[in-house]
Amino acid sequence: MNFWQHLPRPIVGLSPMDGVTDACFRSVIASHGRPDVTFTEFTHVHDVCRAPEIHLETLRYSEIERPIVAQLYGNDPELFYLAAQAVCELGFDGLDINMGCPSKSVAASGSGAGLIRTPELARSLIQAAKRGIDDWAGGQTLEQGGFKPARVEVFERMNRQRGAQPVSRRETLPVSVKTRLGYESVTVEAWVEQLLMEQPTVISLHGRTLKQMYRGAADWSAIARAASLVRGTGTLLLGNGDIQCLDDISRRVGETGVDGVLVGRGVLGAPWFFRPKELVRGQASSERGPESGLSLSTVSLDERFAVLLEHAKQFVEIFGHKQFYRMRKHLGWYCKGFPHAASLRSQMVRVSSVEELQSILKAFHIRPQSGVVLPYDESVDMAETLASRCS
Ligand SMILES: Cc1cc2nc3c(=O)[nH]c(=O)nc-3n(C[C@H](O)[C@H](O)[C@H](O)COP(=O)(O)O)c2cc1C
Repeated sequence: MNFWQHLPRPIVGLSPMDGVTDACFRSVIASHGRPDVTFTEFTHVHDVCRAPEIHLETLRYSEIERPIVAQLYGNDPELFYLAAQAVCELGFDGLDINMGCPSKSVAASGSGAGLIRTPELARSLIQAAKRGIDDWAGGQTLEQGGFKPARVEVFERMNRQRGAQPVSRRETLPVSVKTRLGYESVTVEAWVEQLLMEQPTVISLHGRTLKQMYRGAADWSAIARAASLVRGTGTLLLGNGDIQCLDDISRRVGETGVDGVLVGRGVLGAPWFFRPKELVRGQASSERGPESGLSLSTVSLDERFAVLLEHAKQFVEIFGHKQFYRMRKHLGWYCKGFPHAASLRSQMVRVSSVEELQSILKAFHIRPQSGVVLPYDESVDMAETLASRCS
């Protein structure tokens, strides 16, 4: 048994997004609307094993994000064997192999979605990761597994920084794969059959080919075909692509028979996205009602700005003031779907500190227009934003 088996159905998870779903944004999401499962941004197996410590930033996480799965990419089985042991040592709940990244720098070297063209190699990466996990669970130390003592110290420091207890029981971790429908054209049946030979615990399927990148609409009919192939094999299938609201989740799960979905871009500027997810399961949500803070479908401007500010403060705490420019895109994403959002957004892309952010928000509160001081328009809420996304 692993954590995937205990998740409610349909599973509603946060999709990994490099440069977006960092430890800070994920922790804001976890505290405002916890997804059923969370993935880290992808990390190259070489960076896990050998690169300067700064490259391990993508493997930082906090306990409230659990269950959390580390996503790795690369094309070297030996490095996957090593890195899988590190993922265990760092206390993750699962290991995911990226076989879907379409970017030239990744796919052209045969990693990410490039692996769709080399199914034998893709399978050997899964085998190597599983071997690393089994050896670690069997009691092998990282040094015995091939790590230098200095690297082991780095992992120990990361665990201490997280406040983690030393591992008391070594258990095997589930290995999953996140991929696309094909390389140039949709070859999902043949590709999924290859993956199933290695019995990954989960396959997450983005409904586009590598060639499509992010263009066009995700092909959920192809995801449905994969779902019927996977049914009964013991592997779970998560569909992914263009989910913008809870209605999309119910509809896609109903149409395709997937075990769940991953949501990526729908969460940008909306860390409360997952809050009402119980509704998708047809249950009365215990989070319903005014006492829940960010209530079911309405997020007022006051609340939106409070979360935005909290996100910015937490970002500085985690990554430091010098990195604040990385926060700007998030600030912009929060500013949509309400009057004068565009003008606020244009200021957000230039903001350099929490203090500056606070004064911009304060000025927005008392924004003079035609000589009149306007209060917030509380009537514009998240429901409207979601509705516009879904149209
Ligand atoms: C900025 C950005 C970064 C991404 N980084 C990753 C990544 O690190 N690993 C991964 O498997 N997918 C990555 N993806 C793909 C998403 O996880 C997801 O599959 C894709 O965006 C489609 O889902 P969506 O329509 O819900 O966004 C990224 C997507 C975006 C937009």
